[in-house]
Amino acid sequence: MKTIFSGIQPSGTITLGNYIGAMKQFTELQHEYNCYFCIVDQHAITVPQDRLVLRKNTRGLAALYLAVGIDPNAATLFIQSEVPAHAQAAWMMQCISYIGELERMTQFKDKSAGKDTISAGLLTYPPLMAADILLYNTDLVPVGEDQKQHLELTRDLAERFNKKYNDIFTIPEIRLPKVGARIMSLQTPTKKMSKSDPNPKGVITLLDDPKQIEKKIKSAITDSEGIVKYDVNHKPGISNLLSIYSILSNTPIEDLEKQYEGKGYGQFKTDLADVVVQALAPIQTKYYDLMESSKLDDILDEGAEKAAKVANKMLKKMENAMGLGRKRR
Ligand code: AQP
Repeated sequence: MKTIFSGIQPSGTITLGNYIGAMKQFTELQHEYNCYFCIVDQHAITVPQDRLVLRKNTRGLAALYLAVGIDPNAATLFIQSEVPAHAQAAWMMQCISYIGELERMTQFKDKSAGKDTISAGLLTYPPLMAADILLYNTDLVPVGEDQKQHLELTRDLAERFNKKYNDIFTIPEIRLPKVGARIMSLQTPTKKMSKSDPNPKGVITLLDDPKQIEKKIKSAITDSEGIVKYDVNHKPGISNLLSIYSILSNTPIEDLEKQYEGKGYGQFKTDLADVVVQALAPIQTKYYDLMESSKLDDILDEGAEKAAKVANKMLKKMENAMGLGRKRR
């Protein structure tokens, strides 16, 4: 059975973008692959976080993974900082990364733009991500398009390590969703929807209530043409809404275009709000149940234990390959 690894940062409440680009794929893949799903809290602290909010988001993200349908009997769900091998392996990956290649990463450029102080961790985020993935002999990484560049770097680092030290890493492939690889902000449809976006109007979170969802969709930026048609370059707003509608209702975009021919944006937005509310309602019910139960902590304890067993084996191989410590088996 092939292995999948994927992580999400607890840097806010999960958005519809994270759900469509990443989580939804996970639920579809969990029974066909050996899956590791990680809450990457060490990635989240590459930008400032409030300690109590981070804790709450970390637990909340675990509950959301389960609420969207991750089955803890099929997949291993765990918190990155609870498996120390990740940070240990990341140090080795940092030592084979070049500053130039890290500075070229789009996410680093975006997140550091205009800031006076930038953490070193923001620059060395990709080697930590490479460590996350490579520790599990991962074959496939399902992510949204924004992570493609980091994945390419992970592959380069793995190849570099294999060539220079010992051929121990599997070179992972990237898996992007066919539709919805990049869900955009409802207010700036040329910018991706992000959980840390300071403008909440552009973002639908998985925990938004029906009123909030309706309000955000109704005020989503579209264009003055009034024609429901998918055209990312000329009509980014309506194209984004069409992608969301198509994925959540399991209807091809062409069918939706036909359905709304001559109907304008008003009816389309009302119906889309309904589709989103219906899709999120069962997730929210499960989420609130889980947050109240101790089952969540048991699942995370078990997940960390299972993940550590696999990760520690690879960590030893890495240390042996680089000559760290005494040789052990
Ligand atoms: N807008 C998006 N459309 C499709 N997929 C997306 N992903 C993120 N945004 C979109 C995918 O979600 C997964 C988790 O991402 P992450 O939490 O590790 O970091 P991110 O990509 O930086 O996500 P955010 O929401 O933008 O977080 P912040 O605001 O903290 O930077 C990944 O698979 C990603 O591709």
